[in-house]
Parts: sequence; C-alpha cells; structure tokens
Amino acid sequence: MTTKSTVPERVQKRPSVYSVRQELPHTRPYELYYAEKVPLLQVFEKAALAWDNRSRSGILRNLARLVGIGKPMQAAECGVYRGHSLVACLRIARDLHVPVDFIGLDSFAGLPSLVEEDLKVAPENAPYRKKVLFDDTSFEAVDKLVRSAGFAKNAKLVRGFFVETLSKLQAARYDFVNIDCDLYAPHIECLEYFYPKMNIGGIIFFDDYHSHDFPMAKSAIDKFLEDKPETLLHLRFGPEGTNHTKCYIEKM
Ligand SMILES: C[S@@+](CC[C@H](N)C(=O)[O-])C[C@H]1O[C@@H](n2cnc3c(N)ncnc32)[C@H](O)[C@@H]1O
Repeated sequence: MTTKSTVPERVQKRPSVYSVRQELPHTRPYELYYAEKVPLLQVFEKAALAWDNRSRSGILRNLARLVGIGKPMQAAECGVYRGHSLVACLRIARDLHVPVDFIGLDSFAGLPSLVEEDLKVAPENAPYRKKVLFDDTSFEAVDKLVRSAGFAKNAKLVRGFFVETLSKLQAARYDFVNIDCDLYAPHIECLEYFYPKMNIGGIIFFDDYHSHDFPMAKSAIDKFLEDKPETLLHLRFGPEGTNHTKCYIEKM
C-alpha cells in the first residue's frame, strides 16, 4: 500500500529544509514538510499577540494600527544565516499589524571555532569538526532578501561574531529573541546579553535545544538556566523527527 505524501509537489525534490525556507508558509495551515520551523512561527505569533495585548488596548490599538504610532515590539535573531526565519517572523508581524524592530545578528561567515564544551559532546562524525558550516551566505544577499520582502524599515542586520557585536547594540528591552546559533559559546554569549534585557513575559526561543547534531546547545542552555526561575516549555509540530521539537522560556 502506498501512503500519500504530505510534501507538496513543488518542494518534493528539494535537497534540504534550508534551501526552501524562502517559501516557508507563515500562516496556517502549516505544511508538515516545514515541521522543523513551525514551532518558531507559532511562538513568534504568541509573542507578537502578547506584545499587542500588553502594549495597546481598545481604541488605542485601532488608532495605533491605523496611523502606526507607538513603540514597536523589540525582537532579535541570533543566527540569521540566509534570512529565511527572520523574514518569516517579519511576515507574521505584518499580518498581525504588530509594528516590530527586528535585529538580525550573524557573522554571515559561518560558525565560529569550536570550544572545549563543543568538542566534548559533538558527534564523532559531525561535519563541523572538519569545516566551517553556514558560510554559504552573505550580508548583502540577506539584506537584499529583507528589502525585497518590504522590511527595510523593520529589520536591521548586524554583521560580525556575537562577542564583538552584542556589546555595541543600542540599549533596549526585548519582547522576543530567537537563539539559533548551534554551538556552546554563542548560546552563552547571547543568553548573557539578552536574558537580563527581556521584558517580563518576553520570550526566548531555542532552536537547537533538542538538536542531535548540536548537543552542545542543550549543555549551554541548561548551564545558563541552572540558577534561573524560568522553566523550559517544549513543543513539536507533527510527528517526532530529527530536530522537530523546540523549546522556549517566558521571562518572569
Ligand atoms: C542554523 S544557522 C541559522 C538559521 C536561521 N535562523 C534560519 O532558520 O534560517 C546558524 C547561524 O548562526 C551563526 N552563528 C553561530 N555562532 C555565531 C557567532 N558567535 N556570531 C555570529 N554568528 C554566529 C552562523 O553564522 C549561522 O549563520
């Protein structure tokens, strides 16, 4: 008996989820093919709606939507790569009429060097033991993507390794941060920077906590949260699969 594929025909022959993110549907119904990315979209939507409820109500909300007044939601992504998850989140904010200032941070030159904590837990055959991953992108290409999607005013890309760039960001309080940077040290750097700057109820999303390829993400997140009051909330879209389960915290 043959089972009907849930993968739409137009993407069936594509090699990996990374190459099709530009087509990522940012509204329901989500396609099972994108299971790895759906939790991010759902959690970003939750954060945007929570921001809307916290910041505006009644007539003020409608007026703010009409004339675009008020302080925007503050968001950041640590690990932009080719910009597809960034643009998908920006589209959700646009659909919800939530004004957003989104900072996208990346080296745009791939992952940094591994540290001891990475080498301790990285699978023996992990490709990143031998070569730099995610260097097949560029600041210019992502900037073009963001502009062509109509988000020049909502998104600011920051190029460089987090150790250099985070401390130079303008002071701000954040409502949503997506940490998608795979390795141990970048997780710690981003958490040390953003955690104290989160608004109460703001969300930090972790793309790699359950990753089999990058188990050092879990080591870093567990280490950082050891003495914090927040609990990790886990979610999955569709059946269990490699990297389908994601998690996040809501700042207390
Ligand atoms: C898995 S990719 C991000 C994918 C992207 N969020 C998406 O879903 O389309 C991880 C990214 O993190 C970036 N990265 C990891 N550590 C970094 C660091 N310390 N500084 C800057 N960028 C870093 C890499 O350059 C890479 O582009």
